[in-house]
Amino acid sequence: MLRVDNVSKHFAGSGKEQAVTAVNQVSLTLRHNEIFALIGESGSGKSTLAELIVGLQQPSGGSITWADTIVRPKQDRPTSRIQVVFQNPDRSMNPYWRVKDIITEPLRLSRYPKKQAYAVAEELLAKVKLPAELLDRYPAECSGGQKQRIAIARALSMSPLLLVADEITSALDPSIEAEMLQLLLALRQSEGMSILYITHRLETIAGFADQVAVMKDGAIQEAGDTKTILTEPKSEYTKALLKASSFE
Ligand SMILES: Nc1ncnc2c1ncn2[C@@H]1O[C@H](COP(=O)(O)OP(=O)(O)OP(=O)(O)O)[C@@H](O)[C@H]1O
Ligand SMILES: [Mg+2]
Repeated sequence: MLRVDNVSKHFAGSGKEQAVTAVNQVSLTLRHNEIFALIGESGSGKSTLAELIVGLQQPSGGSITWADTIVRPKQDRPTSRIQVVFQNPDRSMNPYWRVKDIITEPLRLSRYPKKQAYAVAEELLAKVKLPAELLDRYPAECSGGQKQRIAIARALSMSPLLLVADEITSALDPSIEAEMLQLLLALRQSEGMSILYITHRLETIAGFADQVAVMKDGAIQEAGDTKTILTEPKSEYTKALLKASSFE
């Protein structure tokens, strides 16, 4: 569905800052309805790769192409191919807006009438298993886990083919993280979308991701189906990551 072909991203240095190759000749294929985990330590280039895929950054080399083979059922609402959720929901939410305005923002920006957008707001909250009573609250009146679900609801408003989730559970308690993974599994099914799940925690993806790519210093060290990578890792780096996580 989405092909990343030999993509690189260099950032030029300025002043004391050194030039960096944040993403180094990365290739991967994301299939329809698949959960693809991108693993790597801090600074390995995960977010930069995500930004390239989403179109927030332009690659220095290589190409990112969509195969439009997926025929979606006709939608009565605006749609987009791709939506992103970031680690820190507070940075992507206007604190002075109510939840119903936050989750319908993409629809309203796409000129969908406000009244109709509000009518789907409750449905969107239900998709992420939140009660309708949250609609009139402000972000400060919601928990961290609820805010992340609100961010997902906003992303779902555009019926994306691909949801990019960049460290969305990193700031949450392990029990809330597990619930979030369950929610994503359910949404992959009900929404028929793919998920690019970015994390530095290899131990969380067993039983969740179909495919995994392990990234280090901008390059993919190893990629394949999750079970194989977790049980028969080939690269020394993956082995070290597995040893460091309690997965062994
Ligand atoms: N806009 C930018 N300008 C210059 N350098 C950047 C820019 N964005 C990222 N980098 C550099 O690119 C490298 C990869 O950063 P990136 O944020 O993609 O890593 P990451 O794997 O997402 O890390 P984390 O787990 O901490 O989020 C780092 O060395 C970073 O400093
Ligand atoms: Mg990052």
